[in-house]
Amino acid sequence: MKSIERIGKKEEEYVKEVLDTQFRSSKGAMMMTRFEQAFAKKYNSKFAISHINGTATLHSCLAAAGIGPGDEVIVPPLTMSSTSFAVMQQNAVPIFADVDPETFEIDAKYVEPLINERTKAIITVALYGLSPDMDPIMQLAKKHNLVVIEDNAQAFLSYYKGRLAGTIGHMSSFSFQSSKHVTSGEGGIILTDDKELALAIRRFSSLGYAGVGAEKGKITKKDIQNPNYERHVQMGFNYRIPELCAAVALVQTERIEELVQRRIEAAELFGSVIKEKKCSWLVPQKIPDYAKTSYWTYVVKLEHQNVKWEEFQNKWLEFGGDGFYAAWKLTYQEPMFKTLSFNFVEKIYNNKEMYKGKLQDYNKSLCPNAEELQKKLIQLKTNYWNWEDAERNAQALRKTIDFFDKNNI
Ligand SMILES: Cc1ncc(COP(=O)(O)O)c(C=O)c1O
Repeated sequence: MKSIERIGKKEEEYVKEVLDTQFRSSKGAMMMTRFEQAFAKKYNSKFAISHINGTATLHSCLAAAGIGPGDEVIVPPLTMSSTSFAVMQQNAVPIFADVDPETFEIDAKYVEPLINERTKAIITVALYGLSPDMDPIMQLAKKHNLVVIEDNAQAFLSYYKGRLAGTIGHMSSFSFQSSKHVTSGEGGIILTDDKELALAIRRFSSLGYAGVGAEKGKITKKDIQNPNYERHVQMGFNYRIPELCAAVALVQTERIEELVQRRIEAAELFGSVIKEKKCSWLVPQKIPDYAKTSYWTYVVKLEHQNVKWEEFQNKWLEFGGDGFYAAWKLTYQEPMFKTLSFNFVEKIYNNKEMYKGKLQDYNKSLCPNAEELQKKLIQLKTNYWNWEDAERNAQALRKTIDFFDKNNI
């Protein structure tokens, strides 16, 4: 397998194009627009609205959908914290739904019992690159008139029943942060086919400017050369992606197939080692027949009676492997939830006028499957641009499995 460049000459070229503009405002949002058009085209989506990161994207989606104080939004707890932070950034209440023990994904059967008259949206997360089972979630959403936002920060060119993950919910959010399949250091983008939502997202993420549009990312000089010009039709945030990042994100979008394919190749290499060794105590994330995952990471459950997570990692390192990641603490197990030390709690959640519901008790077991999984997950990296590194890690995996098997541990 050949080695590939993660960031190469073409990225440099496009960055230089931006630098050559001297950031003249007459050049507007040249790269931003090109990036949005290219990304929308890859997904055959009507609208793409770029952002500074994949947290801001989620915030904008929720705001555009009219989610506000006291509304409930159902989220999985096994994910990076941004999924629920965005909910709180809108002063809404995250309600945690359990995940499937084999796919690790949010599941309609755990979502349904949590729906009540305060529920306004569901954020699904395509964890590790695998789309959740979306049809039952979309059916629930239709029945209860809920908005579905796909958090696809970790899933690029993933498929669900032949459809691209990111084209199923009402809106979908992607991250271009440095660990992701495609990156511009920081960055994000939203897809939607709904023009009203697209405009609302743009306005919210661009300071509420009157002069922006679903497809127009920046106001022009002409707009503002009139003393009577009214700029702001609403309050908004400045979540625009910088042109330098947009330049890199554009090239990465052009190269997306190559970059995603590399992750899949690395994951398949690790999978082949587990199969070759007939290792029953490393259980990979189940990829159902309906899905094609893009393997942001290759994730296995450590199901060994006598081997602890740390012991596995120490041996792996000893055998020349790189570090790998543990799953995040479940969001509600983070100290800020345990102590309820988020700003809004007094003002919003304990204000009976604003929030008629009862907060979930974050000190109790809310999502037993996710709690059990979180301790066992091993997230092997798949971003091996140099193929020798992937092989070295596959060898470390082989030796680690052998060590514990041969010593009958
Ligand atoms: C599932 C998920 N959602 C949201 C984010 C937030 O993206 P960003 O870091 O670009 O804000 C990330 C990753 O960082 C993520 O993994």
